[in-house]
Amino acid sequence: MRSHHCGQLRDTHIGEDVSLCGWVHRRRDHGGVIFLDLRDHHGIVQVVFDPDTEASFELADQVRNEFVLGISGKVRSRDEIAINPKMVTGRIEVLGKELTILNRAETPPFQLDEYSEAGEDIRLKYRYLDLRRPEMQEKLRLRSTVTRFIRRFLDERQFVDIETPILTKATPEGARDYLVPSRTHPGHFFALPQSPQIFKQLLMISGFDRYYQIARCFRDEDLRADRQPEHTQIDIETAFQDEKEIMSLAEDMLKQLFAETIDVELGELPVLNYQDSMLRYGSDRPDLRFDLPLVDVADLMKDVEFKVFSGPANDSNSRVVALKLANGDRLSRKNIDDYTNYIGIYGARGLAYIRVNDIAKGVDGLKSPILKFLPDNVVLDILKRVGAEDKDIIFFGADKTRIVNDSIGALRTKLAEDLDLYEKEWAACWVTDFPMFEENATGGWTATHHPFTHPLGSIEEIEADPGGALSRAYDIVINGHEVGGGSIRIHQAKLQQAIFRILKMSDSQARLKFGFLLDALEYGAPPHGGIALGLDRLIMLLSGSTAIRDTIAFPKTQTATCLLTSAPSEIDAEQLRELGVSVNKPV
Ligand code: AMO
Ligand code: AMP
Repeated sequence: MRSHHCGQLRDTHIGEDVSLCGWVHRRRDHGGVIFLDLRDHHGIVQVVFDPDTEASFELADQVRNEFVLGISGKVRSRDEIAINPKMVTGRIEVLGKELTILNRAETPPFQLDEYSEAGEDIRLKYRYLDLRRPEMQEKLRLRSTVTRFIRRFLDERQFVDIETPILTKATPEGARDYLVPSRTHPGHFFALPQSPQIFKQLLMISGFDRYYQIARCFRDEDLRADRQPEHTQIDIETAFQDEKEIMSLAEDMLKQLFAETIDVELGELPVLNYQDSMLRYGSDRPDLRFDLPLVDVADLMKDVEFKVFSGPANDSNSRVVALKLANGDRLSRKNIDDYTNYIGIYGARGLAYIRVNDIAKGVDGLKSPILKFLPDNVVLDILKRVGAEDKDIIFFGADKTRIVNDSIGALRTKLAEDLDLYEKEWAACWVTDFPMFEENATGGWTATHHPFTHPLGSIEEIEADPGGALSRAYDIVINGHEVGGGSIRIHQAKLQQAIFRILKMSDSQARLKFGFLLDALEYGAPPHGGIALGLDRLIMLLSGSTAIRDTIAFPKTQTATCLLTSAPSEIDAEQLRELGVSVNKPV
């Protein structure tokens, strides 16, 4: 039906007869001449109809935005004043001869050429229209380029692409499962995989040596800007490789990917250990595009009168930190109040600060609501420790360690965002030496990564002090986003059982849930390990998007619904009966 794509035409086509198909992006009537911007997946070209071609002109007069047209005409150069340097086709236009209306269109619910105007709900409800927009097309095409690159990279290294089941048994990755009732086994449920974790380990036991899959994973968890209930992982597993080798493979892959797709050199990736990362940045996914470190000052605060500081300073589960913002004098009282409210979301009960007006005057050169509570020598020691200078503002966080890390860590990234403190555009790093377990709300232990992660140290050492045990896990972080995570796995049943026991799973429970894995580990399981990269998050970064939803063709909302199809939806009584399921809706 067409000889060229709209976005393809250039000066070199001048004089050629072409036929094009596409959508009317915009229509303008300039007193006797009709201009149609015709759009296809390649781009947009201007088509002009004048009254000389009477029939076509009349049709062109009828068309509206998003009508589907076939046109033919001749490419000509634009008048000098009509040249549009912003369009790749901006030096030419097509003088239309024939026009066929291939389909009509209702007025779209939002302007396809005015992106930011449309609310996200309406964009998601009419996603097929939203996806017509060039920005969205670009993101999904980039996604396809990335998966093509990944496949090529891994294929060249003898990785085997293997699919693993979607209807399966629970794979714990820290979220709730999505469950599917079985009709043939009433009262029994499949779980959708939170990741292919166990299957990829089984494939190593089968001797595949190198596995990958671009795998869909399902997690029922609280959603955020960079989380979706179903997401895609670039999932990798290898046998007989240690953490250095696996990290180097993933790093090479990412570096080449960034270089090839967006022409960015990621450079050397620093390796931070978890403990240092938490101390310095309050986070295990530090944004290293800027520094702004948390500086511990508890030792200076132990004896001060101010209980807000001395309390946490004398408690081993708490922290007192200072955060020095250079040129903090640009923050108003109102700004500080806003930041205080902001970190309240993370449980902080206040945000103390000192303004450094004139450091040469010592304590007299400072301004702060808390000076009256702190001895001069303590204040001077703090100034020295953070390296304070005139115009700085020093913030303080004092509370349980988790609250200080969460709140002051969040303040750190918020300040960088608001005040554009970035020193570079890209900063990637590894975080290693994670704790094996985290204490949960009931005083028991939960696996930090997943329970198949190989711990450091002997079974006896780990059992004696689960809280002190470290794991052979590693995360890759880019610009403050956890882009991937992996670990060396347990390949011996005895160690795996010991970990299950620490997680308060009885031997019989462990057999019930993971008996097949425990059995498999008894049949010559090789040492193995791997990593999974979040594809959606990667695309978000590569495409400069702020929401993960923009990288997925048909995403879910923050409340895990699909506005396009209205899923999830009720099912009829007959279907429920067949499945042996009865519904108890909470009132
Ligand atoms: P993990 O749970 O760290 O590890 O997941 C790997 C990566 O997947 C991405 N990711 C998500 N992206 C969008 N929405 C979500 N809800 C979501 N959850 C995770 C992140 C994350 O780094 N089986 C292990 C991997 C392994 O050990 O090999 C796993 O799933 O970018
Ligand atoms: P208050 O005595 O509660 O009025 O607090 C005095 C100052 O300390 C105020 O600026 C509060 O914002 C701040 N503040 C209170 N609690 C904390 C805390 N846990 N960490 C840091 N600053 C705090």
